[in-house]
Amino acid sequence: MTSPAIKINGVHKYFGSLHALKGVDLTIEQGEFFALLGPNGAGKSTLINILAGLIKPSAGNIAVMDFDVVHQYQQARQLLGVVPQELVFDPFFNVREMLRFQAGYFGRGPENDPWIDEILEGLGLTDKANTNMRKLSGGMKRRALIAQALAHKPPVIVLDEPTAGVDVELRQMLWEFIKKLNRAGHTIILTTHYLEEAEALCSRVAMMKQGEIVALDSTSNLLNKFAGKQLRLSLGKVTLPQGLLPMLRVQDNGIFTFALSDMEQIEMVLSGLRAANIKVLDMQLSEADLEDVFLSLVGNHS
Ligand SMILES: Nc1ncnc2c1ncn2[C@@H]1O[C@H](COP(=O)(O)OP(=O)(O)OP(=O)(O)O)[C@@H](O)[C@H]1O
Ligand SMILES: [Mg+2]
Repeated sequence: MTSPAIKINGVHKYFGSLHALKGVDLTIEQGEFFALLGPNGAGKSTLINILAGLIKPSAGNIAVMDFDVVHQYQQARQLLGVVPQELVFDPFFNVREMLRFQAGYFGRGPENDPWIDEILEGLGLTDKANTNMRKLSGGMKRRALIAQALAHKPPVIVLDEPTAGVDVELRQMLWEFIKKLNRAGHTIILTTHYLEEAEALCSRVAMMKQGEIVALDSTSNLLNKFAGKQLRLSLGKVTLPQGLLPMLRVQDNGIFTFALSDMEQIEMVLSGLRAANIKVLDMQLSEADLEDVFLSLVGNHS
């Protein structure tokens, strides 16, 4: 048995009287491509900061490949590459110096240089390699911070909203590069508010709400479990028959969206409307996506 990439055990975190993490348990195996999702303030970054050893848990523990992040900080940290949500950087180095310095901090020398070139290339930073960090644009800085987290070639890579504020081109480039790392055996854990990214990339998903994990499953199971299909009907100003309300997900300006678990329910909705003399003006059927799952579990507000 290989040790799990990450094992989170009963983790609580208090900030004063605020109970930011309320007993989180989560195991992520080596080689997984894992998404941690949740609305603003759910506790994602708090969990990642504990994992990275930046803050201490109030209770519970986290291990990276069996090394405790508090008691065996050095070993655990060595195995991790963490891209923080906040942009913090050292303004005195250029990009390449910064990457060499970072790798050196984890005991890597000149033999690591080809890897640094590969990161620069993969993240589109090659022509910025000699540019000072403080002269980079916001998006370029984010690229450099992603590169920084990868500089020592860690087996476990954690990205906290890596694509916030980056352009479409980098997003594509970043995901190609991260997918390549995952294929090469690196474990990837990411948080993102772009749910279509998580759906396309991640094989397993945890959803957090107010400091707790409220769903944990493979992406495909989540999609299947929560209403396989969505039926959008344009009905105008009408009052729906009571019997249809349980299936109604959203109602907006005469457009009614129903969440359906199978095709038979479409007939149910249509016959219900017919019986109530409600005319269907337009109709659209689509597969539910991760965003629907998210909204039904986590809601619009935290
Ligand atoms: N250093 C801190 N001191 C006090 N409260 C904090 C601190 N860090 C986080 N919090 C609080 O803990 C809760 C969880 O915050 P956290 O940053 O983990 O959320 P998040 O899920 O990462 O949200 P987002 O999607 O906005 O990044 C929030 O209520 C936040 O205000
Ligand atoms: Mg966060």
